[in-house]
Amino acid sequence: MDSIKTDFSTQFDIKYPIICAPMFLVSTVKMVVNASEAGGMGTFPALNYRPIEKYRQAIIKIKDLTTKPFGINIIVQKSNKYQYKQIDYALDERVPLIITSLGNPAEVIRLSHQVGTRVYCDVVGYEHAKKVADLGADGLIAVGFGAGGHAGNISPLALIPNLVKKIELPVVAAGSIVSGNGMAAAFALGASAVYMGTRFIASKEAEVAEKYKIAITSAACEDIVNTDRVDGFPGNFIRTKELEALGLEKGLIEEIFTKNKRIKRFISLNRAARSLFGDVDSKASYKTVYSAGHGVGLIDEVLSIKEIMEKTIREYKEIKAHLP
Ligand SMILES: Cc1cc2nc3c(=O)[nH]c(=O)nc-3n(C[C@H](O)[C@H](O)[C@H](O)COP(=O)(O)O)c2cc1C
Repeated sequence: MDSIKTDFSTQFDIKYPIICAPMFLVSTVKMVVNASEAGGMGTFPALNYRPIEKYRQAIIKIKDLTTKPFGINIIVQKSNKYQYKQIDYALDERVPLIITSLGNPAEVIRLSHQVGTRVYCDVVGYEHAKKVADLGADGLIAVGFGAGGHAGNISPLALIPNLVKKIELPVVAAGSIVSGNGMAAAFALGASAVYMGTRFIASKEAEVAEKYKIAITSAACEDIVNTDRVDGFPGNFIRTKELEALGLEKGLIEEIFTKNKRIKRFISLNRAARSLFGDVDSKASYKTVYSAGHGVGLIDEVLSIKEIMEKTIREYKEIKAHLP
């Protein structure tokens, strides 16, 4: 199939501007390699490989298995005490793309540019986007309402064209894109690439519990619940018994306490630390409850990563050709 030229695919010299998004406890070396080999770009969160030596080995293994570009997602906030090592190892290995979440990316941008690594930053609105653009970011990941994981709260229909209009950087569209119609819509809004997470969980290569894949292929958009009960920050999850067991409604005591901003932040950070750095089999972790975006309603089969990429591109081309 013909390649698709956008600012993003040109920057990284890849065939298709489709990124297999980084997903905590989901993305693996295998997924990254398959996504990049299929013509898109694979990525993974640095925290998926612990201790840090395993993370370095993961990067080396990816480079052994593919010469295609890939990316690493790093939390650049002080809650991530491994961030400097994660950045150093990525840059030692000349990883083509670093994607930052939370925090201030100034230092990672400075260091990355010394070795030719590009930095894209997760943003959920204009204010943060402007800050990272001023710091020298190479691109933006616009995380809109309806995305899997920690979604933003602005509709992609407004977020993407706003960022494209006001900031001169490639914008990657994230949130509920699971097929060619989402890709066509994102490109119509001015995006340079699509960031697909949920769709790739229902892939043959994803090494998640079978129950997770079944939950995705059988869920409807209405089954997605936005809650901060899992890790302290509002995120999208499939309504399951395990999720409901966390208590989706606030208790009276929490309702009273969380009226105080400092206590609310304390509770949030505690939940986040427990989820990111704690025992992944504990009650509130991404292993026991299933994060997914609103796009689940359109996913009804488990395919290989290559099949997903090619199907998306095929659908995109067909939709583009028949737009009224
Ligand atoms: C299970 C899961 C885990 C995620 N973990 C991360 C993460 O560690 N870092 C990050 O930047 N985004 C994370 N995300 C968000 C994705 O990178 C991406 O923004 C999102 O999946 C796009 O929306 P979609 O799932 O509707 O395609 C996660 C998403 C899911 C579904």
